[in-house]
Amino acid sequence: VWSAVPAGPPDPILGVTEAFKADKDPRKINLGVGAYRDENGKPYVLPSVQKAEELFNASKPDKEYLPITGLGEFTQRAALLAYGAESVPLNQKAISITQSISGTGALRIGGAFLARHYPNSKAIYLPTPTWGNHIPLFQDSGLEVRGYRYFDKSTVGLDFEGLKADLLAAPEGAIVLLHACAHNPTGIDPTPEQWATISDIVKERKLFPFFDMAYQGFASGSTDRDAHAVRLFVKEGHQVAVAQSFAKNMGLYGERVGAFSLTTASSEEKARVDSQLKIIIRPMYSNPPSHGARIANTILGNEALYTQWTGEVKGMADRIISMREKLYNLLTHDLKTPGEWGHIKSQIGMFSFTGLTAPQTKVLAEKAHVYMTSNGRISMAGLNSTNVNYFAESVNAALLI
Ligand code: LMR
Repeated sequence: VWSAVPAGPPDPILGVTEAFKADKDPRKINLGVGAYRDENGKPYVLPSVQKAEELFNASKPDKEYLPITGLGEFTQRAALLAYGAESVPLNQKAISITQSISGTGALRIGGAFLARHYPNSKAIYLPTPTWGNHIPLFQDSGLEVRGYRYFDKSTVGLDFEGLKADLLAAPEGAIVLLHACAHNPTGIDPTPEQWATISDIVKERKLFPFFDMAYQGFASGSTDRDAHAVRLFVKEGHQVAVAQSFAKNMGLYGERVGAFSLTTASSEEKARVDSQLKIIIRPMYSNPPSHGARIANTILGNEALYTQWTGEVKGMADRIISMREKLYNLLTHDLKTPGEWGHIKSQIGMFSFTGLTAPQTKVLAEKAHVYMTSNGRISMAGLNSTNVNYFAESVNAALLI
């Protein structure tokens, strides 16, 4: 029966991990997937997460199903983390929120909800470039995917003129996907002034803003500062959708903890939206897993653990910043590698968009056992003081070929 099924290509990001795992060279480095590694290159289970697990395990939790929209205490606390205590829709109980299978699941629920209920347009504008999975994810949700300019190759910075022109030219009512912070893959975010201009354009064109907030805390080290764009838009009177992930900022990758929310006009409207979110989720996966949500809920709901956690997020962000410094100095000063590498330091969040070309990334994998996505993105978190020299030398050698 399956003779006509064509073989598909490996996933552009997770396929890199497969290739890395198959490589037996001891010098190998995986800078593909965005997953934090500690100074020894090992996955990092946050001490606050360990403590939270101990705390709720002591209460001997049962294994019952969660409600369709997940653990209510957790989603309320997730909303507070994203929107902030001053948020008007939060205080009016007008935010419809559901737990999700991490950030991807949140985006997918949002895509499905918009495809079914958003009355104005089925077109969604994504930044070019964007996280590779956004494109099939929104296509599969039934939306029509389009792009707006974001990255300027010549300045290795934001193409703000292109962004403005493309959003101004978007049809009234279109949906626009915005990375709330730590843009993936470029590591370039708009400034607060630029966000204010984007908010004005979104208002003028009556666009619908959908924020992907997968890296809250990773851009600046502060979860509040990283929520600036979402909170600004809400303050400016926009109704927004927000996809949250706790994969990166709590290191809960495999636990799949996230949330999808929509601000609504009233608590009565919220109740109707809630009911439709349930109707979308129930046939997809019935209800979400409980373990990871309990961890996140314990951290978000316990003052001492919360403080510890925000310190740990800052610790991860700071280690990445120190690797940026180190890599920049190695390439620029020690090795005098051809090219301008200032962007390694100025980009923020987990990734650096190096400017390496697809053929160069292939050479790096084949000759140096260094793995990254073919668009030249590296996960800075995969670098540490043991492997950063080898990485810089390998890049230098690949550029001199
Ligand atoms: C990434 O971009 O590497 C992460 O968001 C992980 C993923 O699922 O792709």
